[in-house]
Amino acid sequence: MKLWRGIIEEYRELMSLDADAPVVTLYEGGTPLIPAPAFARNLGVRADIRLKLEGANPTGSFKDRGMTAAISKALADGARVVICASTGNTSASAAAYAARAGLRCVVVIPDGAIAMGKLAQAIAHGAEVVPIRGNFDRALSIVREMADAGLATLVNSVNPWRIEGQKTAAFEIVDQLGSGLAGSAAAAAAAGAAAAPDWLAIPVGNAGNITAYWKGFREYAARGRSASLPRMAGFQAAGAAPIVLGRPVEHPETIATAIRIGNPASWASARAAADDSGGFIDSVTDEEILEAYRLLAQTEGVFAEPASCASAAGLIKMARDGRLQDGQRAVAVLTGNGLKDPSTAIDCAPPVRAAVDADCDAVRRLIEERV
Ligand SMILES: Cc1ncc(COP(=O)(O)O)c(C=O)c1O
Repeated sequence: MKLWRGIIEEYRELMSLDADAPVVTLYEGGTPLIPAPAFARNLGVRADIRLKLEGANPTGSFKDRGMTAAISKALADGARVVICASTGNTSASAAAYAARAGLRCVVVIPDGAIAMGKLAQAIAHGAEVVPIRGNFDRALSIVREMADAGLATLVNSVNPWRIEGQKTAAFEIVDQLGSGLAGSAAAAAAAGAAAAPDWLAIPVGNAGNITAYWKGFREYAARGRSASLPRMAGFQAAGAAPIVLGRPVEHPETIATAIRIGNPASWASARAAADDSGGFIDSVTDEEILEAYRLLAQTEGVFAEPASCASAAGLIKMARDGRLQDGQRAVAVLTGNGLKDPSTAIDCAPPVRAAVDADCDAVRRLIEERV
């Protein structure tokens, strides 16, 4: 059995890190790409839907791909302190990788607006958590100023090493799809090279990840390792959809706290990814996000956090309005693990029934009542 070595070692020739730089890794990447036949049946089109389970990364989100690169580089450059603004997952990942590297980590978060599991992670890894009375966009401008003043190294996705690491997910998708393709992507793969899916559906918040994926797909194609490029379909939450609206949103609101962002730092490159690929950036409502959230959990056994489900909700929307068609292959990136946000899971489901007596008759009655 070949052991997975983490994204830097697995894709070193495609990453511009110095060969002798230290590598800080939790062996991230190598996440599952799984078929979702029940989900696809619910869409009413005969499309081949795959889910990229980024919640299977060591801290439970895609951020780990970028953080192994950003923290390795910070360490190589002699940093002592790293800093980030976060809607939750960046802080969890930065805290974990900084702990492994022996660096001090400061995370600035919107007070009361990040999911409990993520806050727990940052605290557990010993990060210094600074809640502010303001939203993510304000937190990002504060940490940028701290970094510019030389107080710490910034590890948000405006740090190019984050993008460098996160682009590896695109490599993996092409590698995992590999040979034996069916559907229209198969034509592109006729020469024997692996190919990208027809569509790559992805949630968009600060817009670093869509930027990274598009970079990855293009680089793989340029090296002849992918016979095609996907169309990029980015999805913002309707209450936090600045790119769709074409203007910043001062008070972004959505149940998907990870993408509650009103003025994305990588706005221009996200726009370019959508336009250059022949795709688009659209929005999905909180109701649509929760519909996808339940569907994935209850028909596919996949528990992804609400922001992640913007991609799956987007595919449902695309199937309904005809943008996703029979015979096409689409990959939905599920960016974070559902366990990060237990409150949403509990709040959005019927209440767990009251306790019954601890005897077989009481339990049997309940089972029989249901059938
Ligand atoms: C679970 C999850 N999905 C999506 C995103 C959005 O990624 P980006 O900010 O790179 O657009 C984030 C960002 O925090 C996230 O945590």
